[in-house]
Amino acid sequence: MRSDGPFALLAELTYDCPLHCAYCSNPLELAHYRDELTTAEWQRVLAEARELGALQLHLSGGEPLRRRDVVELVRTGRELGMYSNLVTSGLGLSPARAGQLREAGLDHVQISVQADEPVLSDRLAGTPSYQRKLDAARTVKELGWPLTVNVVLHRQNLDRIDGILELVEAMGADRVELANTQYYGWAWRNRGGLLPSRAQLERAETAVRAARERLRDRMQILYILPDYYERYPKPCMGGWASRQLVVAPNGDALPCLAAHELPLPRANVRERSLDWIWEESPLFRRFRGTDWMPEPCRGCERRELDFGGCRCQAFQLTGDAARTDPVCHLSPDHELVTAAVRAANDPAGPQEVVLTPRPHPREVVP
Ligand code: SF4
Ligand code: FES
Repeated sequence: MRSDGPFALLAELTYDCPLHCAYCSNPLELAHYRDELTTAEWQRVLAEARELGALQLHLSGGEPLRRRDVVELVRTGRELGMYSNLVTSGLGLSPARAGQLREAGLDHVQISVQADEPVLSDRLAGTPSYQRKLDAARTVKELGWPLTVNVVLHRQNLDRIDGILELVEAMGADRVELANTQYYGWAWRNRGGLLPSRAQLERAETAVRAARERLRDRMQILYILPDYYERYPKPCMGGWASRQLVVAPNGDALPCLAAHELPLPRANVRERSLDWIWEESPLFRRFRGTDWMPEPCRGCERRELDFGGCRCQAFQLTGDAARTDPVCHLSPDHELVTAAVRAANDPAGPQEVVLTPRPHPREVVP
């Protein structure tokens, strides 16, 4: 029996990026991704994704505006009837480029913000970018696009959440996604300096509640807790190979952003159709549904709600992607998470942890 198709394609056009965020979820091995898909190859991927049922096209990276053909790809998405969303740092979104994207049919823009003031923001982004983000947001609003602002929250900016919310409001955002860091890629490497304390989170929740009350008619506020502090794991990607599909710059197709780290056979759009990859590839079939589950998930009443959590997190923490996500308090490996949380709340622990910035792809030795 055929499975339902994905509703969204996340097209990671390039891992090239002007920013160097220490919480970046991009792979550590950037050299593998230099041989990027051509425009024609991306156009075929978009058509095949639409054929599979995908209605949303998220253009991401790295920085998707680093690809010269992004306007052409937006136009292709529009011709296929897809709703397109540009996920950008804002750098490279000049008024001229924005006008071309508008004319090509881009529907929505998401701009990332690191902090509410230039010094911290530029430090976290690893490059002067604060003012250019504000300029890009102004351009987005002038062209009449809906604007979502993405803020990755962590130990080093959580205490500024009031200011961040004021900034986002001043940018004219229709929606803000305040997402505590997920520990993949560079964020995993920098976890000690990013995982917040419980006191920081409690203060942030109070600030978010107050802002929701104050801005309820003007801005939607989405706040995503760090799952390390939850009792149950997140239903990652809405279930493995269930609703979304990621294609990396080199054509690797993945069920989620971090699956490249798992010891599973690769599936690449240069070798196979997306239909085959979605339906038949061992990578996509491996954790689909619930048959693969071990105990305690197998007998748990929440197994269709959270799908046993995140496979990539299970792999990162235990070395076995088929184990219950250790975030779950029922997992036999839960101590791996509580130990990290204890360290983040230890008053005697290191307070100033130096973060390793994500390098520029061209600085990575192949
Ligand atoms: Fe979810 Fe598995 Fe934990 Fe049950 S045991 S709540 S299915 S992760
Ligand atoms: Fe891969 Fe959660 S990021 S399953």
